[in-house]
Parts: sequence; C-alpha cells; structure tokens
Amino acid sequence: MSAQNDAAFLRMFLVILGALFAFTMGILVMAHSVSAELRANQPDAARVVAQTEARIAPVAQVSIAGQEPAAPPAVVKTGAEIVAQACNSCHMSGILGAPKVGDQAAWEARMVQGIDSLYLNAINGKGGMPARGGAADLTDDDVRAAVNDMLTNSGLPQ
Ligand code: HEC
Repeated sequence: MSAQNDAAFLRMFLVILGALFAFTMGILVMAHSVSAELRANQPDAARVVAQTEARIAPVAQVSIAGQEPAAPPAVVKTGAEIVAQACNSCHMSGILGAPKVGDQAAWEARMVQGIDSLYLNAINGKGGMPARGGAADLTDDDVRAAVNDMLTNSGLPQ
C-alpha cells in the first residue's frame, strides 16, 4: 500500500461518510416535517367522538327534507264520548254533590252564573270537582263540549 492509495482511500472514505451523513440528516428533516404535519392534522377528541357516533348511529333514521312524517292527526272526541270517559263517574251518581246529568233544576241553578263560568269551573275545578274532571289531557274545547253535552242531556240544549 502506497501513501497515495491511502490518501485516495481516505478521500473516498470521507466522501462516502459525508454522503451518509447528509442522507441521515435528510431523513431526519423529512421525518420531522412529516410528524409535524401528522400532529397538525390530529383530530381533537370531540371530533373523534362525533365522528364515531355518526358511524355507529342506528341505520334506520331516514329523513328526507320536506317529507317528514306528518304528526298524527289529533283525535277529536265528541262531547258524549268525553262525558262517558271522564265525567259520568261523578255526574251520573251525583257523588260529592256533583250536579247529576238529567237533573235540569240542578243545572239551571248553576246556569244562573252564566255558561262561561260553568266552562271555567269545569276547566279549573271547583269544590269536589277536579280540574277537567281529573282528565288532564282534555283540551279546553273538550271540556266545553262535555259540559254542553251534559247540559243538553239535562234539558238545557246548548
Ligand atoms: C271526581 C268527580 C267529578 C268528575 C270526574 C267530574 N266532576 Fe264535574 N263536578 C263534580 C262536583 C263534586 C261538582 C260540584 C262542585 C261544586 O259546586 O262545589 C261538579 C261540578 C261541575 C260543573 C258545574 C260547575 C259550576 O260552576 O257550578 C260542571 C260544568 C262540571 N262539573 C263539569 C264536568 C265535566 C265536563 C267533567 C268531565 C270532563 C266533570 N265535571 C267531571 C265532580 C266531578
């Protein structure tokens, strides 16, 4: 081995070493920028939860804009039906002092105060009479229809 060969080897060795070093640094810089990009795109927890819930949501929720199912039509009961369901339990027997259906005189006495007052007392309750006869789901119109039916059946047609 000559000193010239040694010098040539050393040069080549340094060139390769330099190239490897540059390559390593390049990889490091690339890795750093890729991981920074990944961190920047990291979804936050709330978004992950929302997306997951969207993915696992029940599949049977079809809703087409403008075609939402219409609310079921409100069932309108007649006065007679309402009286049978909610009022007769007291107003047939006269329990607790309720004016009986058919007792014209009893109803006439109450009509003195005016029909609107009867409606209001039936809606809000009075004495032993619970509000709406205890049927809280009745509308004001339902109660008025029931009162009218009881009055009609007591010889005081409304
Ligand atoms: C739990 C028994 C009970 C039920 C159920 C009941 N009532 Fe009465 N109702 C009474 C009693 C008792 C009175 C007498 C209250 C008083 O004058 O102190 C009365 C009185 C009334 C009066 C006369 C109010 C007035 O101003 O004098 C009307 C009208 C009336 N009820 C309508 C109804 C209607 C309509 C229903 C059904 C929706 C109904 N009631 C259900 C017990 C009942």
